[in-house]
Amino acid sequence: MKAKQIKPGIYWVGAIDWNVRDFHGYVTPRGTTYNNFLIMDRKIALVDTVKREFADVMFDRIRCLTEPEKIEVGIINHIELDHAGSWDLVVERCENITLYATERGKQGLERHFDTTGWDIQTVKTGDTLKLGEKTLMFIETPMLHWPDSMMTYVKEDRLLISQDAFGQHFAQAVLFDDLVPQETLEDAVIDYYANILMPFGRLIKAKIAELQKLGLEIDMIAPDHGVIWRKNPEKVINMYLDMANGKAEEGIVIVYDTMWHSTEKMSRAVLDGILDEGMYAEVIKLRETPMSVAIKQFWKYRGLLVGTPTLNNVMFPTVAEFLQHLRGLRPSNRIAGAFGSYGWGGGGVREALQVLKSMKLEVVEPGYEVNYRPDKKDYEQGYDFGRMFAQKVREYHSRFK
Ligand code: FEO
Repeated sequence: MKAKQIKPGIYWVGAIDWNVRDFHGYVTPRGTTYNNFLIMDRKIALVDTVKREFADVMFDRIRCLTEPEKIEVGIINHIELDHAGSWDLVVERCENITLYATERGKQGLERHFDTTGWDIQTVKTGDTLKLGEKTLMFIETPMLHWPDSMMTYVKEDRLLISQDAFGQHFAQAVLFDDLVPQETLEDAVIDYYANILMPFGRLIKAKIAELQKLGLEIDMIAPDHGVIWRKNPEKVINMYLDMANGKAEEGIVIVYDTMWHSTEKMSRAVLDGILDEGMYAEVIKLRETPMSVAIKQFWKYRGLLVGTPTLNNVMFPTVAEFLQHLRGLRPSNRIAGAFGSYGWGGGGVREALQVLKSMKLEVVEPGYEVNYRPDKKDYEQGYDFGRMFAQKVREYHSRFK
C-alpha cells in the first residue's frame, strides 16, 4: 500500500472502497474512496481518517512515509464516521497528538468516542496552525453538510482540503480529475450534490463567496471522496454554483409506479405527448430503480411528472417514499405535475399534488386521472396532458436563461 504525493510533502493515505454499493441507503454503483492526507513537515499532520474497516490500509500507507506514532497533529474536518471512524485508533498510537476541530466537531467527537485524555483544540474560521514550512488555515462550513464541518487550506501549496464538499462517490485508483472520463465524473458530482447537498444551495453560494472574499488562491481541491481536482478545480466550483442557482436541463423526468399497468400505460401516453412537443424526457419506474438514482435524474431536469396509482385513497407507497425523500432535500426551481389511475374513490394524484405544492415547486394542475384502465380517449387525454406539460416546462425553463 503506497502513499501518493499530491503536493510536495503532502500525501494521500486513504482507501479505495471498490465494493460499497449501499452508502447508508444511497446506492453507490461506482463505489467510493475515503481520502485523507498526511502532511510531512516539522510537525507531521494527518487530515481526517478513513472508514474504520480500512484503518489498516491507512496505517500501511502512512508507514511508507513515517511511523504513525510520529503524527503530532490531527485535523478533524468532519466527524461523520466514514472520515472520523478511525480517530481512536490514531490517538491510541500517537501519544503526542493534538486534535483540531470546530466546537461542534469536538462535541460530536465526544459523543462518538470516549475522548478521556484526548487533547482536542477547537478552531474557528481564519485560525492558522504552523506545522513548520507549511501553514494550515481553517474555514468552518457549518451544515456543509454537518454542523461540525470545516475545510483546511494549506497556504503554501494553495491546496483546499474540502471534506465532503466537491466530492463524488467514485472509486478510482488514479486520484486526479484529469485522469478519469469527464462524463462519468460530472455524473458523479451531480449524483453526490443531488442526494446530499441539494438542501444547502444557499449556504453553498454564501460559502463560495466567502472563500473568494478571503482571497484564497486555490489551485487544487482535495475532497474526502472521489477524485482530487488538480487540473480544473474551477470546474467543480462552477458546477456547484450552477446547481445552487437552480441550473437544470430543459427536459422532463417521469417518475412512476404501477399496480396493474394502468398508470404505466398512462405514462406512455404522456411521454408520447412530451416527445411530440420536441422535449427530452426520461422514464423511471420506482420499483425497478434505486431511490438515489431517481433523485439524481429528477435533479438533472427542469420538469417532474409523478405517476401514482391510488391505493387505499392515498399514493402508492413507493411514490410516497420518493416524494418523502425529495421533500427532505428541499428542491427548488423545478416544475411538477402528477397523473395516475384509480379504481373508485381516487386520492393518489390529489395527494401527490399536495405534497409537491408543500415543497413550493411550481405545480401544474389539475393532474391527469383515469378510472381503472386507459382507453383510446384516455390515451388522447394523456397525450394532450404531456404536450401541455412540456409547453409549461419550456416556458418555466426560459425564466432561468
Ligand atoms: Fe463522507 Fe459526511 O461524510
